[in-house]
Amino acid sequence: MAVQARTVHRAVMQSEVLQQLGAEGGGDFLDCTLGGGGHTRAILEANSENQVTAADRDESALARANELVSQYQGRLEVLKSCFSDLSSKLEGRKFQGVLADLGVSSDQLQGQRGFSFNDVGPLDMRMDEHASKTAYEVVNNTGSQELYVILKNGGVGKEARRLVQAIVAARPIQTTAKLAEVIRSVACGSKSKLDPATLAFQAIRMAVNDELPELQALLQLAPEIVRHQGRLVIITFHSLEDRAVTARMREWQGGANMPALWPGALPTSSLGKFLTNKALRPSEREVDENPRARSARLRAFEFA
Ligand SMILES: C[S@@+](CC[C@H](N)C(=O)[O-])C[C@H]1O[C@@H](n2cnc3c(N)ncnc32)[C@H](O)[C@@H]1O
Repeated sequence: MAVQARTVHRAVMQSEVLQQLGAEGGGDFLDCTLGGGGHTRAILEANSENQVTAADRDESALARANELVSQYQGRLEVLKSCFSDLSSKLEGRKFQGVLADLGVSSDQLQGQRGFSFNDVGPLDMRMDEHASKTAYEVVNNTGSQELYVILKNGGVGKEARRLVQAIVAARPIQTTAKLAEVIRSVACGSKSKLDPATLAFQAIRMAVNDELPELQALLQLAPEIVRHQGRLVIITFHSLEDRAVTARMREWQGGANMPALWPGALPTSSLGKFLTNKALRPSEREVDENPRARSARLRAFEFA
């Protein structure tokens, strides 16, 4: 895979991230979604004492970060890991602040890796190119009912049933261009402002990369990797993700489902508090300058 030398990704809600993490106050931080390195760089710039461990499951993101590693000598460490492997890779380490900026980066969308319906190549969409499940497999080998659930949950709406029928009839679908053509043939009368292929591609991408189970793994781990009075900041781009984050933070605040490893806590005590009563949204100006920020929602939690 060719790696673009420079990132084309613009970090979203950068000042809100720094503020909610308390990055100016100094400390050690875990960026679980290195991507183009925008947030990592901003955290390193916020305080010259800050240390960052930045993880991603995409090797091209890690390769691109070599320049950052040498620029911030001794203050940045990068790590290949998906959320569900972080527990074993971090070996009990805890951080002052943990950030996850979910979804795909613009580098991935523009990297001819099948993430974009404008691509012409094979159906891939893997964030980790060594993962076994590709979009080809999800599109061509998933049963109709499961494919319907993937598309419906992904936000495709009332066209989901017809879309499944069209996909099944067109199998095997080999390329992103062919998949986009099938989707548009079904959804050509849709009133949505979004290209129907956008939602269907997002739904398939989320299934290929197990994005919701991965998020649940991160939420399960969070109380063990954030220090007392440390913070967790999560940016979501999909309502299902936002709901999962909110539900888990509510449980922590209310004291339910106490993880057995939380030292010294009574079973009913709260793990901490929301820093954001409502999700923070990007400013109109940011959305004008970076339309990808449009659906971002940021939630932050401080552990007691
Ligand atoms: C929206 S981008 C992050 C952009 C980054 N914050 C920046 O400022 O450039 C999301 C990144 O997270 C990675 N990612 C998404 N889900 C992941 C997971 N479950 N485990 C590890 N990395 C993941 C993707 O590969 C992608 O590079």
